[in-house]
This record gives sequence, structure tokens and C-alpha cells, in this order.
Amino acid sequence: MYRGRVTHSPLVVVTGGAGFIGSHVVDRLIGLGRRVVVIDDLRSGKRANLARWLDPRHALDGAEPALELLVNDVTEGLFAPLAAVTAKHGPVDRIIHLAAQVSVVASIANPLVDVHVNYRGTVQVLEYARAAGVKKVAFASSAAVYGETDRVPVEEDFPCRPMSPYGIDKYASEKMLHYYSAVQGVATTALRFFNVYGPRQDPSSPYSGVISIFADRARAGRDLTIFGDGEQTRDFVYVGDVARAVCEAALGDAGDRAVMNIGTGRETSVSQLARTVVELCGGRSQIVHAPARAGEIVRSLAAVERAATVLGFRAETALADGLRATLG
Ligand SMILES: NC(=O)c1ccc[n+]([C@@H]2O[C@H](COP(=O)([O-])OP(=O)(O)OC[C@H]3O[C@@H](n4cnc5c(N)ncnc54)[C@H](O)[C@@H]3O)[C@@H](O)[C@H]2O)c1
Repeated sequence: MYRGRVTHSPLVVVTGGAGFIGSHVVDRLIGLGRRVVVIDDLRSGKRANLARWLDPRHALDGAEPALELLVNDVTEGLFAPLAAVTAKHGPVDRIIHLAAQVSVVASIANPLVDVHVNYRGTVQVLEYARAAGVKKVAFASSAAVYGETDRVPVEEDFPCRPMSPYGIDKYASEKMLHYYSAVQGVATTALRFFNVYGPRQDPSSPYSGVISIFADRARAGRDLTIFGDGEQTRDFVYVGDVARAVCEAALGDAGDRAVMNIGTGRETSVSQLARTVVELCGGRSQIVHAPARAGEIVRSLAAVERAATVLGFRAETALADGLRATLG
């Protein structure tokens, strides 16, 4: 069994690896025997998410630990932070770029910060990849690039009409990935995540997913608030499935220049979700309604065929199972 140490494995860099999705990606990479370097400035991520791999007990027998955490801001570039680690372990093989300002609401309040972190940050990653001969860059894009669509399921070739600086910066980043691939020869894949949920999602953040907020409240026996009638739908995809898709895209060579949805292809209404969460938590909470939020998308559902064809990826975790794991 793998025990948390790697001797001669090419480096995989995960930006944003101390975050919710990033820490699950790190777990999977280390489970696959990869040597991982996380670059994260810990603005929303937590060292605790990586604690088991940072524990010195994982560096027995004189071997190197499988994980190194570099507390750095990606917008300042990757060359300086990675210099020492590449001098020791050789060049970076793959980069998974997840570091981002993740709040749509914050991007509307402060678009310049969003451009700086989410667009400039991506270009810094791609510049490093070009100069260092990195074999593949996998990037966390978002369903937010689509905006409101005429129909569902949403296919990757639908027109993109992002409705926030966050969606626009993700879309612009995808275009930059395409440029680096087509013109600069850096293989890239962009993954448009739908609504990701699972353990370690931060319910204390006002911007975190509805599931972590519902779970937190239902566990405490407090009311769950639904904005509007609750008939709005989302494609909720479990973080373990997302981590698998990310690793497929980053470690394999398939999908260069591709953009693909990462969802389940199943639609769940917010009311249905609230009822299931309350039930799993013992049924003590009431479901209450508040006025609908302006501009909220009514239906969201991923078309999942491209990821299946290109990466061989299909989400496998049923919502009830994923919710049970999230509720702990
Ligand atoms: N959670 C979702 O449902 C969802 C949906 C679509 C896309 N995404 C994308 O997935 C990625 C991961 O999101 P998450 O939900 O895990 O959020 P998260 O906030 O837990 O993770 C983001 C990580 O990036 C780090 N970070 C932010 N700015 C940085 C910077 N300038 N330099 C270095 N590190 C920085 C944060 O500290 C954090 O650890 C993001 O790119 C996000 O936009 C998430």
C-alpha cells in the first residue's frame, strides 16, 4: 500500500491545492504515487486540508515527503517559488491550475481583483508552462462561462454569455489556454465544473455551495432557506468525481485544446436537495422560503458526453451517497 512517500516521480504542481477541490485532487495524486507541489497563498484554502500529507510521519525511511506546500501568490509568477524544488527534483511535468478568487458575488463587487487573480494568475501559470516545457496544464473553468442558456443540457458548443466578471475571466482564461496550446505548443485542457460539493467545502463562507450551507444548518437543526420557489435546478457533482476528472485531464495526454463540462448529467431541484439533506440529518429542520434572488439561473445541467468520450470520465457518485459523505 502507498504510505505517503515518493522517490522518483515527476512533479505535479497544483495551484490552489489547499482549497476544497484542490485538497481532494492532492489526495488522489498522492494516492496515485505522484510527487506533488502545492502553490497556495491560503487566502481561502487551509493548511489543515493537507495536514495528513504534511505530517512529518509521512517522511520515514529517509525518503522525501510526497507533498510540499509553497505559500505563494500565483499572480506573482511561478518561477521564483518553484526554483528550489525543481533544482532538487527536476522539472515540473504537469500543472493543475485551480487557484482562483471563487466568489461570483465578490467578482461583481470588485472586478479588478477578479481580473488580477483569475485572469492574470492563469497567464502566469501558462507562461511558466511554456518556458519550463510542462507537458500538460489542466484548468478549473466553470459553468459560469455559459450564463443563461436557452435549453439544457448545456453543451460545450453553446454560446457563452457570462453574466459576471468571474464568468468572463474564466472564459478569457480558456481562450488564453487555447492560444498557448495552438501557438505556443503547451498542451492544455479546460474543465467547466458545475456545482461541486463534498467534505471540506467551507459553509462559513457566504459564497460556498448551497449544499454545504444546507448541511451545516440541518446538522444544527436550524431552518433551511430557499430563495424563490425552489424549482431552480443544478447539476451537483461530488468532489471525489471531480478530482478523478482533473487527474485524468492533467496526467493523460488526451484532450489537448479541449474544453469540457464536468457534471453528472442529472438535474436536482433546490427543493429536492433541501428535503434530502433534512431527511439525512434526522428531519429536525424546517424549509422556509425567501424572495428569489435577481439574476439567478433557473436550470443548470451539464451535457457530459464530451468528457466521457475524450477522458473516459463519468461521475459515479449518487447524490444521496455524496451527501452522506459530506454530512460525515
Ligand atoms: N466549487 C465549485 O462548485 C466550483 C465550480 C466551478 C469552478 N470552480 C473552480 O474550482 C477551483 C477551486 O475552487 P474551490 O471550490 O476548491 O475553492 P477554494 O476557495 O476552496 O479553492 C481556491 C484555492 O485557491 C487559493 N488561491 C486563491 N487565490 C490565490 C492566489 N492568488 N495564489 C495562490 N493561491 C490562491 C485559495 O487559497 C484556495 O486554496 C477554482 O478555480 C474555482 O473557480 C469551483
